[in-house]
Order: sequence, then C-alpha cells, then structure tokens
Amino acid sequence: MSWMVLLAASAGIALVVAFLLLLYLASPLASPKPLSLSGAHVVVTGGSSGIGKSIAVECFKQGAFITLIARNESRLLEAKKEIEKYSINDKQVVHAISVDVSKDCADMERVLKQAQEKLGPVDMLVNCAGTSVNGKFEDLESSRFEQLMAINYLGSVYSTRAVVATMKERRMGRIVFVSSQAGQVGLFGYSAYSATKFALRGLAEALQMEVKPYNIYVTVAYPPDTDTPGFAEESKTKLLETKLISESSSVCQPDHVARVIVKDAVQGKFSSSVGTDGYMLTILTSGMSPISSIAEVLEAVILMGFFRFIGLFYIASFDSIVHRCMVQKEKSEKTD
Ligand SMILES: NC(=O)c1ccc[n+]([C@@H]2O[C@H](COP(=O)([O-])OP(=O)(O)OC[C@H]3O[C@@H](n4cnc5c(N)ncnc54)[C@H](OP(=O)(O)O)[C@@H]3O)[C@@H](O)[C@H]2O)c1
Ligand SMILES: *[C@@H]1O[C@H](CO)[C@@H](O)[C@H](O)[C@H]1NC(C)=O
Repeated sequence: MSWMVLLAASAGIALVVAFLLLLYLASPLASPKPLSLSGAHVVVTGGSSGIGKSIAVECFKQGAFITLIARNESRLLEAKKEIEKYSINDKQVVHAISVDVSKDCADMERVLKQAQEKLGPVDMLVNCAGTSVNGKFEDLESSRFEQLMAINYLGSVYSTRAVVATMKERRMGRIVFVSSQAGQVGLFGYSAYSATKFALRGLAEALQMEVKPYNIYVTVAYPPDTDTPGFAEESKTKLLETKLISESSSVCQPDHVARVIVKDAVQGKFSSSVGTDGYMLTILTSGMSPISSIAEVLEAVILMGFFRFIGLFYIASFDSIVHRCMVQKEKSEKTD
C-alpha cells in the first residue's frame, strides 16, 4: 500500500517540476523590458474625457509626448490645457486631433501620419475611445449594435492599423485596448456593449501572437465601473436590473484606473485589471491568453477552479435579481 502512495507522490512532484521547468523555459519570451515613457510618443484615442484623459495625464507626468484623439474640438482643447499643467520638462507637447475613429481606416492613417511627423513614431497607442448603451436586447435599435461595434471595435482596429507597421519596423511598441469587465462577463442590459468589448479580446490575442517576435506588447484593460462623464451619461437611462447587479461592486476613480493601465502596459502585461473583482474575473477568463509572467500563470492554475466556485454565487444572485424584477413588473402590470 505504502509504495503506491510513494509512487503517486513522486509522480505528482515530477509533474509539478516538469511544469515549472516548462514555464521557466518559456519565461525569456514572457517578460519584456519595461518601456520608458520619458520622451515617448503616446497616442490616446478618447483622450479628451474620463479614463482616456487620466491615462494621458499619467503618461505626461512620466515625461511622454501626447497625441489626443477625439471628435469634439472644444473638449479636446480643454483636455489639452488640463494635461499640460502636469508637464515635467519644457519640451513636452500635447497635440490634439479631432477625428471620428469609427469612420474610415484611411482617415486614421492620415491623422496618425501627421501626428508621427510632429511628435515622432508612436511608442504606445491606447485605444480608449468608446461608448456604451444599456437596454434590453429587443429594445435596442439594431443601428445601436452597428454604431457601438464601429466605435468600440472598428475604431480600435483602424487606429492600430495606422501604427503597427512602423512599430514592427522599429521592433518596439505597446498597444492597449480598453475593454471592460463587461468584456469578461455578459450582464443584463449589455448585449450590444459586451459584444464589442469581447471582440477586442479576440483581436488582442491574435494580434499579440503576430507582433510578439517584433517586441511589441499588447494589453487588454478591463476597467470596472468608473466615475467618468461617459459613465454618468449611461447611468441616466440604466435599467433597474443592471443597477442592482452592478451594486455588487463599487465605482472607481479614473485616475486610479489609469495608473493601473499605464503601469501594466509599460510592463507589457497582457491583462490589466483593477480591484479584487477585477483580479478574480481576469484569472477566471485567462483561458488561452498569452503568458505575461510565471507568477500570473501559477496563480491562474491554482485559483481558477476556486474562483469558478465563488462565481457561482454571483451568478445565482444576478439571476435572482433578474427574476425578482420580472415578477414585480408583471405584478404591477396586472394591478394597473
Ligand atoms: N466609465 C466606465 O465605467 C467604464 C468601464 C469599463 C470600460 N470603460 C471603457 O473605457 C473607455 C472610456 O470610457 P469613459 O467612461 O472614460 O468615456 P467618456 O468619458 O465618455 O469618454 C469617451 C472618450 O472617447 C471619445 N470618443 C467617443 N466616440 C468617439 C469616436 N467615434 N471617435 C473619436 N473619439 C470618440 C470621446 O470624445 P468625443 O465624444 O468628443 O469624440 C471621449 O474623449 C470606453 O471605451 C469605455 O467603454 C469605461
Ligand atoms: C463639445 O463639448 C462642449 C464642451 O464640453 C459642449 O458644450 C458641446 O455641446 C460639445 N459639442 C458637441 C457637438 O457635442
């Protein structure tokens, strides 16, 4: 009997050792050299408001040159002035371009070419321009599905296409896609929005595999609810179900979210999340995502099953919220 236990134990140990060895062999490919933002050219789409503006401020504080991209010119100008206050040397520049990221790939190539002539090749692109809509699947106009996909997904494709060739030539660069926790889990009211944010993940994984040999690192950020003008706007028409479900986590400040995103992007981490919920979701959804560090992989291997278990309680509570809302609505319709 005892020899069987011994055999099983040594087989177990051998497996763990082989696994660690494999990870060790993969590690030189895994951890890139951190990018220095001092003097770097950072392009932030959606940089005139909310999380994007905070990302621009954070990079500017670390000595970067910034190109802001958004549509509304007066808001761009206000943001430019605000960011310029944080300069750490008198060479730093904030350049603002008014363009709709979702309209035309050629448009984006043209404006980013201009930006690179002004401030040099792009070292980091942050795809943060985005918008959301909350509503039941059948109540949302089908044009909203197209519009959201155009801004959140295609806008990121167009901007990235405009910089990736130069990054490959220079064999350096960082590309950030700002997804959302709604890009890790689909929740009531977000059928249109979630799809666009899940799409960014697929794009990022495939692109990362293509550009990794060129020393380019892709980051997908999954922010939680964050106190921004965009969030305030969406909250005005939020469904009761969505409100009750999102009450299970708190609202973050954009500066905090931005600091985490910039830190992770500089380090070349594939997934960037904020807070305990964010950590859990990112481990749970790590799937076949690129390896950023051995510690991260080990955490996922150990914690994934446990987090799936914890997650069951969240799902059950969300389902019960949705059910209760339906029952209440039907009751109030009967009494009317
Ligand atoms: N706030 C949250 O709770 C939260 C949570 C998770 C993920 N996110 C994501 O984080 C990103 C930023 O969100 P936020 O809340 O900071 O948004 P926000 O305050 O509404 O800012 C959005 C920014 O994107 C720009 N933009 C929107 N559509 C554009 C277009 N078609 N072309 C060019 N620029 C465009 C806006 O400027 P113009 O309108 O002038 O173009 C603005 O600068 C979004 O992708 C959002 O989905 C937000
Ligand atoms: C642009 O932004 C300004 C300042 O935030 C706002 O007053 C104006 O209504 C916006 N313009 C459009 C077309 O949305």
